[in-house]
Amino acid sequence: MIITYAEIDGFRNLKGISFQPDTKYNIIVGANAQGKTNLLEAMWILSGCRSFRGSKEKDYIALGGDRMSSRIKLRDSVREQKIEYTMFRSANTPKQILLNGVSHKGTRALFDVFKCIAFIPDDVDIIKGAPEKRRSFIDMAASQLNPAFVVHISKSNTIMNHRNALLKSISQGGPGSEVLEIWDRQAAHEGAVISYMRHDYVSKINEICRELYQTISGGSEVLELEYRSNVFRKEDFEKPCGEDAFEKYYRRLRENCEYDIRTGITHAGVNRDEIDIKINGVSAKEYGSQGQIKSAALVMKLAQAEIYMKRSKDAPVVFLDDVMGELDENRQKFVFDIIKDMQVFLTTPNEGAILPGISGKVIRINGGSIENA
Ligand SMILES: Nc1ncnc2c1ncn2[C@@H]1O[C@H](COP(=O)(O)OP(=O)(O)O)[C@@H](O)[C@H]1O
Ligand SMILES: [Mg+2]
Repeated sequence: MIITYAEIDGFRNLKGISFQPDTKYNIIVGANAQGKTNLLEAMWILSGCRSFRGSKEKDYIALGGDRMSSRIKLRDSVREQKIEYTMFRSANTPKQILLNGVSHKGTRALFDVFKCIAFIPDDVDIIKGAPEKRRSFIDMAASQLNPAFVVHISKSNTIMNHRNALLKSISQGGPGSEVLEIWDRQAAHEGAVISYMRHDYVSKINEICRELYQTISGGSEVLELEYRSNVFRKEDFEKPCGEDAFEKYYRRLRENCEYDIRTGITHAGVNRDEIDIKINGVSAKEYGSQGQIKSAALVMKLAQAEIYMKRSKDAPVVFLDDVMGELDENRQKFVFDIIKDMQVFLTTPNEGAILPGISGKVIRINGGSIENA
């Protein structure tokens, strides 16, 4: 898919931005703190994903301003669609989301429409960060492939919140023990489905990562990803997810019940899963060099793009925020080769640091506006 038009105003420091992107490369150039990342972020939020900077929605509006808007036209193999996101600082309905002119309550509807992948320097946290970072990377990537996954995740989160509230109530002598079992049945159902879907995605991405990492490391190193469920064993995933899996998950929740009640939190299940990432057989998180960790994170994102490409007629839009400058020429070539069929928006403070073969539309950002626009 391709963004054919973008118009942004009042989003952080951005003012009066409008442009028709190149169908291939868009190189956003500017000094520090001029609004390059803001420009990517303003388009990214139209994908229904949370900000890749982890910022809160209310911070989208310019300080001192009372309204922000971001709109794009998006063309895929079927049609052109229009996404508009407007937010007001003071209004009864602070947020307005329009998809082809039709109003939607939240950004959820956009998730199925606009697919994009962002590469940011913080991607190394997928490897270095807490297990939660790895789970959410896998969950996001798997959801992109299969939107039903989002529904399971959000159901599971709701059930877990109820369950944890119930645990606290029971521990304080309140009611709840009779309904806990009912919640556990539901938690087991969603949890098992999520485990199997995660396992499936990690197996897929593992194969591609292995290949890509071998190439990027000059054929000498092996990257391996393995999903570690704390309910299921490897062999369990050989059978499809069904009654046996639900039962096993349920029993696991019940085993831990007393401990959960004492502590007020759920100790078993998908909220405790891990994805092991190894380079040459040892934990990348514990033993990886900075370069290895950077390459591994890059490869995981590229693999995500590749898996998506295989499944869909429409390539995702790629955002590269300040990552090219850190890569040597060979690695840049490697990246551009994989994303060659995708529309790319990349930011850089230094135009000269981008490979000479990469040319397209240059967008110069200064003080939140496009220069010479
Ligand atoms: N809510 C906001 N309102 C106004 N300006 C903001 C807001 N949030 C961030 N900024 C400004 O945006 C600029 C940083 O933009 P950013 O896109 O991160 O820059 P860069 O070009 O380095 O990527 C800074 O000048 C910062 O003060
Ligand atoms: Mg930036």
